[in-house]
Amino acid sequence: MADLIGRQNNVGFTYYGNKLRASRKLLHASLGTGARNEWNPMLVEECKHVMKLLVDHPEHWMSHVKSHVASLVLRFTYGRKLSEDYVRMAEEINFDTGMALQPGWIVDSLPFLKYLPTWLPGMHFKRWALTARSRFERCTQEPYTATRLAVLNGTAPPSFVARHLTSMVNCLSPFEEQVLMHTAGSVYGAATDTTSAFLMSFILLMVVFQDIQEKAHAELVNLVGHHRLPTVDDQASLPYIEALIKEIHRFNPVINLVPHSPMEEDEYEGYRIPRKSWIMCNVWSMTHDPEIYQDAEVFNPDRHLSGTVKDPRQFTFGFGRRSCPGVHFANAETFMFITHALLLFKISPATNVNEAETHPPLSYTSTFTSQPTPFDCLFELRDPILKEFLCV
Ligand code: HEM
Repeated sequence: MADLIGRQNNVGFTYYGNKLRASRKLLHASLGTGARNEWNPMLVEECKHVMKLLVDHPEHWMSHVKSHVASLVLRFTYGRKLSEDYVRMAEEINFDTGMALQPGWIVDSLPFLKYLPTWLPGMHFKRWALTARSRFERCTQEPYTATRLAVLNGTAPPSFVARHLTSMVNCLSPFEEQVLMHTAGSVYGAATDTTSAFLMSFILLMVVFQDIQEKAHAELVNLVGHHRLPTVDDQASLPYIEALIKEIHRFNPVINLVPHSPMEEDEYEGYRIPRKSWIMCNVWSMTHDPEIYQDAEVFNPDRHLSGTVKDPRQFTFGFGRRSCPGVHFANAETFMFITHALLLFKISPATNVNEAETHPPLSYTSTFTSQPTPFDCLFELRDPILKEFLCV
């Protein structure tokens, strides 16, 4: 089903080979620590922007967080903000991908069905796939073409596409151009749901564990005081916040089941594993393994302070040559958001009509990217002086 809706061109669904190697090379060049100076300024700006929105309209905190991630990712990829229409379509594409990944599509068990005519009864899956595919193609081609034009006109702001087009524009083969366009088109789907699920999980956990929030806030104030905002260079000096970030990853991994697929038939303890079958790596079970993490069901950042416990990000960003190429970018972005939010706000449970606190349940969806189930909370500005630092 994922193939039918056109996802074989998406990095996450591409089988290992020349195309994937070319995609990952582009991604590593732009997302690795070597490129930090290129993306750090936009990360700082976008972070200040979302904090300002949270100060001005805290009641819309959920939509601010989601738009912040979408805006940052699109700026990184194409160098500019895209229309509401594009963001809506990109969200539909994320939804389509999630739908196609659901088990139970008959064509996944009987692949020959994809060759039958669309008008036959029972072929509604093919009709849906055609619409989803054209949406995906439009969403991949339009922003790429606009950025390409801006590069040729010399008006393109820094971005993933601009960086690679500028360095290759005179010697780009059709294959390389297709790879660049599809790689760029894959970033939104891979980066937005994952990053915003992580940030939502942070907010939920801070609402539920107020004492941990206060401890993290105290460490931050101790380092940066009230005279500046945190920067990525503060990371090494904030061990408790680093431990908190690890624990958020461990407690509820953003992707609990990571699918990998063998290129050749294999065998494991007597079980035949056919080529191209889907092996679901159970990340949740790894981050809750009592032999690695004592009292694994308890949310406790302290467990990471000794530095002897395995960093759960070794599981939560995937494995081997398919592991997440956005890991450094994601770590920097989540660190920036979390430290800014902790310094500026007290995040507390919402109150009901009787002014009593309503404590949200610690529950998450069982979708591909695991999100907290919808909850409400309050963002209260801790110190009005800090607002002055938010002017972009
Ligand atoms: C908290 C945030 C994030 C988490 C938890 C996360 C996690 C993951 C995981 C588990 C995978 C699958 C790895 C595997 O198959 O072994 C993956 C793949 C991927 N991620 Fe991330 N990710 C995050 C953010 C990002 C960001 C910010 C970007 C880009 C800007 C990104 C780009 C990608 C891409 C392109 C792939 C596909 C790699 C491939 O199939 O070879 N991710 N991510």
